[in-house]
Amino acid sequence: MTVDLTTTYLGLELKNPLMASSSPLTGDVESLLRLQDAGVSGVVLPSLFEEQIEHEAIEVSKLMEYGAESFAEALGGYFPELDDYNTGPEHYLQDISAAKDALDIPVIASLNGTTRGGWVRYAKKLEEAGADALELNVYLIPTDPYATGPDVENRYLDLLRAVKESVTIPVAMKIGPFFSSLAHMARQLVDAGADGLVIFNRFYQPDIDLDELRVVPNLQLSTSMEVRLPLRWIAILRDKVPCSLAATRGLHSADDVLKALLVGADAAMMASALLQQGPAHATEVLAGVSSWLEEHNYESVEQMKGSMSMASAPNPDGFIRANYMRMLATYTSAYA
Ligand SMILES: Cc1cc2nc3c(=O)[nH]c(=O)nc-3n(C[C@H](O)[C@H](O)[C@H](O)COP(=O)(O)O)c2cc1C
Repeated sequence: MTVDLTTTYLGLELKNPLMASSSPLTGDVESLLRLQDAGVSGVVLPSLFEEQIEHEAIEVSKLMEYGAESFAEALGGYFPELDDYNTGPEHYLQDISAAKDALDIPVIASLNGTTRGGWVRYAKKLEEAGADALELNVYLIPTDPYATGPDVENRYLDLLRAVKESVTIPVAMKIGPFFSSLAHMARQLVDAGADGLVIFNRFYQPDIDLDELRVVPNLQLSTSMEVRLPLRWIAILRDKVPCSLAATRGLHSADDVLKALLVGADAAMMASALLQQGPAHATEVLAGVSSWLEEHNYESVEQMKGSMSMASAPNPDGFIRANYMRMLATYTSAYA
C-alpha cells in the first residue's frame, strides 16, 4: 500500500507535509534544489527584514538629496550582517523569481519586522516576484512597561492588516508563544485575515560574555525537546481557529513530524535539523513518516491529521493542567 502524504497548507496543495523553514539553507537556488530533490514539499525563504527595506529607502533618499558621490560612502554604513544574510530588497525579489523558476514546489517569501511603515508595502512586490504565499514574522520584544497586552497585540494585528491589504496571496503569521491569552490572540489574527499560523517563532536569547562584559548574540540550534511547546498549542488551537497551522521549532525526526500531524498541524517545518544534517535528512524523515503511517494502517496524512488534537484525543486534559500535580509529585531522583 502506498500512503497518500498530500496535505493542504494556506490553500496550497503540498505533496507531503514536510517543508523547509526559513534559514540560510533556503537562501540560494543550489540548496533549494537539494531540498526539493530530498523531497520537501515547500520552502520558506529567509526573511526580508524591515531594517533592510528602510535602510535602502534611506540610502535612496540620501542619494537624491546629496548626489551620487555620497552614495558609496553611505553604503559602507550599517547592516553588514543583514547584507550578508540576504542582500537587500532588490536581490530578494530576484531570489524569489530565481527560486520560482528553478523549483516545482511552492515558494513562500518571508517579511520580518515590527513597526507599521512603508516597508510593509514590499509585500506586494514579493507577490509580484512570484511568491506563492507570504509568511509574516513579527519579532517583537516589548520592553515598555506602559505598553499593555492589547497595545502589543494591536501592533501584530495592524501589521497583518496592512500586509493583507496589499496582497492577494495567502498570508501566514509566524508568532511566538508569549501572549497572555494565546488562543484569543490566534483568533484575533484569523479575524484580521491570517490564512495560517506558524507556531512558534524561536526567540534567540542573548548571552553575556564574562571576559568582555558584553551582551553577545548566541544562536543555538534547537533540539527535539522543543517540539513539545508547539505540539501542545497546535493541539489546543486546531479546533478553535479556522486556519492552516504549521509547526516549527524542534522538529528533527519523523516522530516529531508525526506528532505535529497528529495534534493537527497541516505542515511540519524544519530548519535546525536540516542545517545540522543537510537536505538529505528530509528523505529519511519522509520515509519514516510513510512507514509509520503504513504500520498503523493509515491510508493518508489527511486521515490521521488532528486525531490527537485537544478536541479528539482520548485524554485531552493532558494538554492542560490535569496530570500536572501528579507528574511533579511522582518524579523520582536519586537525591530526592
Ligand atoms: C540560522 C537560522 C536562520 C534563520 N532565519 C530565519 C529568518 O530569516 N526568518 C524566519 O522567520 N525564521 C528564521 N529562522 C527560524 C527558523 O525558520 C525556525 O522557525 C526556527 O529555527 C525553529 O525551527 P527549528 O527548530 O527546526 O530550527 C532561522 C533559524 C536559523 C537556525
